Amino acid sequence: MGKKILVTGGAGFLGSHLCERLLNEGNEVVCLDNYFTGQKSNVVHLLDNPYFELIRHDVTMPFFIEVDEIYNLACPASPIHYQYNPIKTVKTSVMGAINMLGLAKRIKAKILQASTSEVYGDPLVHPQTESYWGHVNPIGERACYDEGKRAAETLFVNYHKQNDVRIKIIRIFNTYGPRMHPNDGRVVSNFIVQALKGEDITVYGDGSQSRSFCYYSDLLDGMIRLMNTGDDFTGPVNVGNPNEFTILQLAEQIISLCNSSSKIVWQPLPSDDPMQRQPDITLAKSKLGWEPKVQLEEGLIKTIEYFKTIVK
Ligand SMILES: NC(=O)c1ccc[n+]([C@@H]2O[C@H](COP(=O)([O-])OP(=O)(O)OC[C@H]3O[C@@H](n4cnc5c(N)ncnc54)[C@H](O)[C@@H]3O)[C@@H](O)[C@H]2O)c1
Repeated sequence: MGKKILVTGGAGFLGSHLCERLLNEGNEVVCLDNYFTGQKSNVVHLLDNPYFELIRHDVTMPFFIEVDEIYNLACPASPIHYQYNPIKTVKTSVMGAINMLGLAKRIKAKILQASTSEVYGDPLVHPQTESYWGHVNPIGERACYDEGKRAAETLFVNYHKQNDVRIKIIRIFNTYGPRMHPNDGRVVSNFIVQALKGEDITVYGDGSQSRSFCYYSDLLDGMIRLMNTGDDFTGPVNVGNPNEFTILQLAEQIISLCNSSSKIVWQPLPSDDPMQRQPDITLAKSKLGWEPKVQLEEGLIKTIEYFKTIVK
């Protein structure tokens, strides 16, 4: 028999794929979500499975259940959504972490935190290793997310040290794929939607800022491998694809893969937008035996196929 697993934020982009994957591996999955950025439609195909349960709940409120493992993904992930109600974003990260860690402590469950490359802020070293402390503006537009996630890491580490809670921290770098929210302003989904509609593609700044993009299936491999490591390894561990592309290259590739007539238009760079972000995945390679397999073109083709079904 498999494990009983709670996935918070389970109706979102990554959470819904994670629920599906854990069910396919023979586990019982409880998906908890308040549907802020997630949608029932992401998990509706799982509702017939008797080992799947869907619960509407907000992680800022306590929650009690008996499970073996908790994946804590609940948190809006795109600037448009996390800046919509910044106080709520901080509460979701911090109170969500406290509630889930308290639960893990009480029921002796193993718990994984979906942290982010944003803990490095606008980094001064490239690529970023886990030992880099980051360069974050605590009062900037992104602070509600970045500092919320940093505080969550602090809580995880201290519940581990003080209360022996078995923790895992994954620092996720830009991840894309089917079921991304079409209007969340993230660069891959933005460009694909604009290209499919034949609208102008908005590039911020001069487009020379670079990003690395990880396909969701690779990311989930790394996440599940991390959860399955021995109790002595807590992370944090970077998981992402180190291949760098400029935003302009991404825009041009998406226009070409969509056979689109879209033109590129330029807009000023938003404040605190990092110029470069690239994971050093040495630790993931050695501790998890993990590295990404899906290259950008292959991942983009699959993601574009998905968006064709929802963009009219
Ligand atoms: N996708 C990425 O590139 C990326 C990068 C770094 C970190 N992450 C982290 O991974 C996790 C999942 O991200 P995603 O890309 O799937 O985003 P997403 O917005 O699709 O998923 C987040 C889910 O959390 C839910 N949620 C938000 N606030 C909640 C609350 N208070 N209570 C209960 N549920 C709540 C949302 O409804 C949504 O279903 C997030 O924690 C995010 O910070 C993602």
